[in-house]
Amino acid sequence: MQRAYFITGTDTGVGKTLAASALLRGFTEQGLRTVGMKPVASGATEQSGERVWEDVLQLQAESSLDLPLALRNPYRFDEPVAPHIAAAKIGQRIDIAAIRQAYHRLQDQADIVIVEGAGGFHAPLNETQTMADLASQLDLPVILIVALRLGCINHALLTQQAIHAQGLEFAGWIANRIDPAMLVPDENIESLKQRLHAPLLGVLPYREHPAAQTALLHLHLEKL
Ligand SMILES: Nc1ncnc2c1ncn2[C@@H]1O[C@H](COP(=O)(O)OP(=O)(O)OP(=O)(O)O)[C@@H](O)[C@H]1O
Ligand SMILES: [Mg+2]
Repeated sequence: MQRAYFITGTDTGVGKTLAASALLRGFTEQGLRTVGMKPVASGATEQSGERVWEDVLQLQAESSLDLPLALRNPYRFDEPVAPHIAAAKIGQRIDIAAIRQAYHRLQDQADIVIVEGAGGFHAPLNETQTMADLASQLDLPVILIVALRLGCINHALLTQQAIHAQGLEFAGWIANRIDPAMLVPDENIESLKQRLHAPLLGVLPYREHPAAQTALLHLHLEKL
């Protein structure tokens, strides 16, 4: 059975890549043909003299298939800035149709495709479209990563509203304990549970060195 999900977050830097990698690892361990896609990556780092995009590498590390980079990551920008601005600066425009084509080629070969957005759900892709339009044009159920910190309930509820406004399925959410100093985390999780109309797929603990393998231990893939 073919399945695919769009991973969004309450913000940038909330653990989307960590959660997406853990999900990929879980499906890979089930013997499925898996691939991670990061349609738009901004912010290159250097690794042994080569420019690399950390999210693209991390997703690939947990994918069972080895598919071409141009399909897994059609757009990549050197500067760590919002994608539509990064693209405009080099005279490019991000085209959802091009991403959709790449996605379908991945889908042809995989049982599971996990697509990680950039930034939050309404992060712009070009002058008129956002990540929400991308999720919508790929027609993907959405998984929301909630970074547990002050303000996260508001961000999570706004994102839920945006997912519903797009007419997309809200497939689940993952709470990520990214801030170890957060006060009353359990009460926050309970408040989110009462207000988010999708299953809680797991609570990722704070880890000094987070890894997909350990994060996976806290996820319930069977709830998807
Ligand atoms: N549970 C956690 N405990 C400790 N550190 C975490 C945890 N989750 C994520 N981090 C760290 O927070 C940073 C952001 O995580 P990650 O890259 O997964 O976020 P993201 O939402 O994918 O960001 P982006 O918007 O750049 O794609 C990383 O350095 C990651 O290692
Ligand atoms: Mg990421």
